[in-house]
Amino acid sequence: MAYLRSIFNRKSIFWFVCALVLWLALFVDLVISVRSENSSFSYSFAGDSDRGSLPVDVSINVSQSWDDYIGDVQIKGAEYDGTVVNGSGKEIRNWILTIKLPESDGQIDSSWNGTYEKTGNAIDYYPDKNVYVIEKDSFRTFGFILKSAEVYNDFAFDISGRYVTYKEDYPMYWAIVYITIAYAVAFIMYASMQIKMEMRRRSDDEIIRQTMMVFVNSIDARDEYTKGHSVRVSEYSSAIAKEMGYSDDEVRKIGYIALLHDCGKIMIPGSVLKKPGKLTEEEKREIRQHTVMGGKMLEGFTSLEGAREGALYHHEYYNGEGYPEGLKGEQIPKPARIICVADSFDAMNSDRCYRKHLGRERIEAELRNNKGIQFDPEVAECMLRLIETGKLHVMD
Ligand SMILES: [Fe+2]
Repeated sequence: MAYLRSIFNRKSIFWFVCALVLWLALFVDLVISVRSENSSFSYSFAGDSDRGSLPVDVSINVSQSWDDYIGDVQIKGAEYDGTVVNGSGKEIRNWILTIKLPESDGQIDSSWNGTYEKTGNAIDYYPDKNVYVIEKDSFRTFGFILKSAEVYNDFAFDISGRYVTYKEDYPMYWAIVYITIAYAVAFIMYASMQIKMEMRRRSDDEIIRQTMMVFVNSIDARDEYTKGHSVRVSEYSSAIAKEMGYSDDEVRKIGYIALLHDCGKIMIPGSVLKKPGKLTEEEKREIRQHTVMGGKMLEGFTSLEGAREGALYHHEYYNGEGYPEGLKGEQIPKPARIICVADSFDAMNSDRCYRKHLGRERIEAELRNNKGIQFDPEVAECMLRLIETGKLHVMD
């Protein structure tokens, strides 16, 4: 899923849609062109007329003639050889030819390459299968033997049929083919690059996480009661960020920032940190210094933006009464406001040396009562929602 997300992000989807629109435009243009070229035609002309620029021509020649008889009546027999020339630059199909004779007498004795029907002086010629397609710049022949009073040389023709063009004849078709191939190659290259980057990012992430864990565990291990605290605060902060609609990248980043929030505690003496009883004002002041120390420690950790602010400001109160700087409301960076709620939730949901965990009802009440005081109201609402929906576990 993460790999798919790395391939299909907002930017890439925009380019996919652009490419698809261009491809569809070319495709529609090709379909329209092919359809408009596939038109029917019908031409009429006399055999000896000037055809001008007509793309289809028909001619008939008498190749031989002889005297013949019908009963005792002497007539003429003749072999008429015809040619249909296609100079249209397109293929012709389903053509029908009507040959008009000067007289209506006579009868057809035999024919080739087609069948004939004679009605009056008109002969309708229907080409056989082997000649009913005429490729571009090609011709077909036909013929018949007609017995009539005399040999005819003057004909008029009506020819009709259909022009057929093939998509392969269009440069646009080949443009679409090459563009499709180019798209496919580009997509495969892009996808493999994204997958490699995602794998690299995961591996880097794991290295960063493991390094941080070594550091964070060494802080939490100093006090038995805060063991696993940083990891839990990190998980709660990520859950809140997710609930607030942050992107996966931002959720991951806030998780890391939260993981380091108490790193300054490593500078606090164990005698103060692990003191079981009540702390003196001086000791409280000393413990509070873990925010400032954490901020200082993370000053140079610029590759994780916001890490310094997370450690420095996670004890600031939304009403401005927190520490170390007394920042108020929106002045406190958002990750720090999230960590503040997550940190308090973990404290309320864990046993301490001086008290047991508080339980669901009290935790919910604390979150509600401190909305706008200690907690950012929006963050506190999110935390309450997570508890209500069971996404975060509260100890009984
Ligand atoms: Fe803290």
